[in-house]
Amino acid sequence: MNALLAGATGLVGQELVQLAADAGYPLTTVGRRDVEGVAATIRTDFSSALALPPARVALCALGTTMAAAGSRADFYAVDHDAVLYFARSAHAVGIQHFVAITAVGAHVRSPVFYSKVKGEIERDLAALGFARLDIVRPGLLLGRRRERRPGEALLQRLDPMLRRLTIGPLDRYSGISAVTVASAMLALCNQSSEGTHIHHNADLRRLAHTC
Ligand SMILES: NC(=O)c1ccc[n+]([C@@H]2O[C@H](COP(=O)([O-])OP(=O)(O)OC[C@H]3O[C@@H](n4cnc5c(N)ncnc54)[C@H](OP(=O)(O)O)[C@@H]3O)[C@@H](O)[C@H]2O)c1
Repeated sequence: MNALLAGATGLVGQELVQLAADAGYPLTTVGRRDVEGVAATIRTDFSSALALPPARVALCALGTTMAAAGSRADFYAVDHDAVLYFARSAHAVGIQHFVAITAVGAHVRSPVFYSKVKGEIERDLAALGFARLDIVRPGLLLGRRRERRPGEALLQRLDPMLRRLTIGPLDRYSGISAVTVASAMLALCNQSSEGTHIHHNADLRRLAHTC
């Protein structure tokens, strides 16, 4: 299985790179930085035309935070525009399967800006017409980050307690480890039924066990 990955240097992306290497899957990463241990790297800041090689599947773990982006417009440029740019370029070279992370709560009419942006990218990815589109909607991502994110770090510390409250339908809002999300994304690469498929925490944990 050969795959393209955007966002390979992030929390989930790094886990994907490691898992793909362990499984012997050739991965081409697409992003601002070179990545070691992959078949190839395409350097781009997603602001000019992307010439992508053909592949069986494209995975997207791109994203930023409001704090890092500095404004709503700059956040939108990454979490919406760069994702769509990558997806359009993948579709243009004939890739028919796209796997993207958005987030729990994604909805085009959400009053929360972050969730609204995630909803809009889901809508716009669906409109591209991939034969299969997997939308991965995790809760809080758990894992060790290089940069400081005080809010997330606090929620990570509270996660064991919050987990007791987020049962049943609320489970989708609980934390989930980045490696579980990455394992699930890799498992999804082997799915072949067509259509748009949305995956929350419980589904992601189940898929991760099949990887
Ligand atoms: N944090 C959470 O708890 C949470 C929960 C649910 C969903 N999500 C979503 O899950 C996805 C993956 O999250 P993550 O925490 O693994 O991401 P992350 O660690 O923040 O990594 C983001 C990736 O996007 C790239 N990126 C960021 N800004 C860029 C820009 N301006 N131009 C090009 N590339 C850029 C980064 O590349 P560089 O190394 O070049 O910066 C990196 O590879 C995101 O869409 C996020 O919104 C996160």
